[in-house]
Amino acid sequence: MTIAEQDRIRRGIEELRPWFYVHDFGGGLKTTTLIPEHVTAIHDTRLEMVERVVKEHFGTRATGLECLDIGCHEGYYSLAMERLGFRTKGVDARDENLLRARFVADASESAVTYRTGRVETLAADEGRQYDLTLFLGLLYHVEDPMLCLRQVSAVTRELCVIETQVVDEVEGFTEWGSQDWTRPYVGIIALVDEGGEFEAGIRETGVTPMATCPSPKALLFMLRQAGFKRAEILTPAPGAYEQHARGKRVVCAAWK
Ligand SMILES: C[S@@+](CC[C@H](N)C(=O)[O-])C[C@H]1O[C@@H](n2cnc3c(N)ncnc32)[C@H](O)[C@@H]1O
Repeated sequence: MTIAEQDRIRRGIEELRPWFYVHDFGGGLKTTTLIPEHVTAIHDTRLEMVERVVKEHFGTRATGLECLDIGCHEGYYSLAMERLGFRTKGVDARDENLLRARFVADASESAVTYRTGRVETLAADEGRQYDLTLFLGLLYHVEDPMLCLRQVSAVTRELCVIETQVVDEVEGFTEWGSQDWTRPYVGIIALVDEGGEFEAGIRETGVTPMATCPSPKALLFMLRQAGFKRAEILTPAPGAYEQHARGKRVVCAAWK
C-alpha cells in the first residue's frame, strides 16, 4: 500500500466515525467499534457459525456463486462471504451505513457492490435469486416478520442463513370458535418497542419504531411457511458468545 493510500484510508476512518465493526485494513489501519468491549465477541461467534454452515453446504462450489447480504450495514459479513469465493451484493435501508460499507470495500480492494433498499420489497426490487442469502441481525428489527421472510425466501436459491434474537418459547392450545374447539399454537412473536433507539437515530434499528421477535419454534415454523423445505437452528461451538451459548440469540440455516 502506498503512503498516499494509507493516508486516504486513515482520513476515511476518522471522517466516518463512529464505526459499528472492527475493519482491519492491514498495516495498523483499523476501525474501532462503538460496541462495548464485553459484546465484541458476538461477531466472532456469528462469523464462525455462518462460515461453518456455508462451507458445509457449498464446499468447493462457492467460488463464483452469488450471495445477497440483506441488512448488510457496513458490509462486514458481505466481505466475509466474498473471502469464501462468493460474488456478493449487500442491501441496506440506510445510506449512512452503505457509505461506510463502500469505503470499506474500496479500501479492501473488494468487488462487493451495495444497493439501498428494504427487505420488505426485496423480491420485486431484485427480480432474481441468489445461491446464498444472509439475513443477519435484522428479523427482530422488522414489524412484519412473515412478509420479510417471504421476501427473503423468494430471492434465495439454495441456502439462507438467519441470525436473530429470540424470545423464550411459549406453546399451548387456544380456544377457536367454541370452548369445545381448540388449536395448538407453536411458538410466539413478541412485539417490541424500539421507539427510543429509533427516535435517537440508532443505525442498527429497523425502519419503524415497532419491532417483533420470534421464539425459536415460531422462527422455524415461519421459515417453512415462507417456502424453505428445511430449517435448523445451529449448535454454537464451545466458548460461543454468551447469548448464543444460552440460546437467546440463534443462527439458523434454511434450505430451499
Ligand atoms: C442490527 S443491524 C445488522 C447488520 C448486519 N446484518 C449484522 O448482522 O451485523 C441491522 C441492519 O439492517 C438495516 N435495516 C433495518 N431495517 C431494514 C429494512 N427494513 N430493510 C433493509 N435493511 C434494514 C439497518 O440499517 C442495519 O444496517
